[in-house]
Amino acid sequence: MKVTVVGAGNVGATVANVIAMKNFASEVVLLDIKEGVSEGKAMDMMQAAPMLGIDTTVTGVTNDYAATAGSKVVVVTSGIPRKPGMSREDLIGTNAKIVKGVVDQALQYSPTAIFIIISNPMDTMTYLTLKDTKLPRNRVLGLGGLLDSSRFKYYITAALKAAGMPATLTDVDGMVVGGHNDKTMVPLVSYAAYRGIPVTKLLSSAAIEDAVAKTKKGGATLTQLIGTSAWYAPGAAVATLVGAIVTDAKKLIPCCVYLDGEYGEHDLCIGVPVILGSKGVERIVDVKLEGEEKAAFAMSVAAARETNSLLSGALQ
Ligand code: 2OP
Repeated sequence: MKVTVVGAGNVGATVANVIAMKNFASEVVLLDIKEGVSEGKAMDMMQAAPMLGIDTTVTGVTNDYAATAGSKVVVVTSGIPRKPGMSREDLIGTNAKIVKGVVDQALQYSPTAIFIIISNPMDTMTYLTLKDTKLPRNRVLGLGGLLDSSRFKYYITAALKAAGMPATLTDVDGMVVGGHNDKTMVPLVSYAAYRGIPVTKLLSSAAIEDAVAKTKKGGATLTQLIGTSAWYAPGAAVATLVGAIVTDAKKLIPCCVYLDGEYGEHDLCIGVPVILGSKGVERIVDVKLEGEEKAAFAMSVAAARETNSLLSGALQ
């Protein structure tokens, strides 16, 4: 099974490397427009293969979409990352044209591929891809919820430890839905649990609110520290999405997908729990949000629609 990763920056290269280490794809093609970058990073990954037991072949190419032909999954990380102080939405003017161009070229060579969009503002870039390609909505998804959910688990675990619990990150469950947006993403506190025990029974409201606030600005916090967007957790999250598709895992994972009535919304791409398998988005799990979480989701929808409204201008 071949997977293409477009963009050999920090995120794209990490995606390729994590996929290779998991050995669920026969080949990963890493493509960038900058001469030599993909070739060099792919070669470096392959020189680690003997030591890491990697059987996947990672091939680097410079702007050669023919080399991506026949991909089962195409991951789009192209575009600029944000700098400290920027919102993801600030990137639309640059990234919209780049994403459209990349998707159009990749689709020519892989007409049955499933597209996973990473480039920000991701919810709107996913919407752009679906509208531009007119692909069935099961074949276009975006990375947001899984990454934000992992950050939510990180901060809940820290709060549990601060409250004296020996919590480990793999013992905490949590889900974030809505937009991949610092202000409007929706960490679902009502579903967060420590080995099945609701965190609302273990943590104070203040501790939970603090974890929610830190989750929302999790990406910006890292950008402030590193000077650019994060890549280890985003890369691992994308590799998880690719793995669920390539291995037909039927995993329930929060992803940005096109809603056509689910959650009472139409003509919008936003983060909700879905079942991922070989067909891509195989089912949207339409949970009935309630109270504050339902209201927060509605606000997130409004924010995503607002950013979508900027697309026509951004593509001129
Ligand atoms: C993040 O939140 C890059 O949007 C991605 O780190």
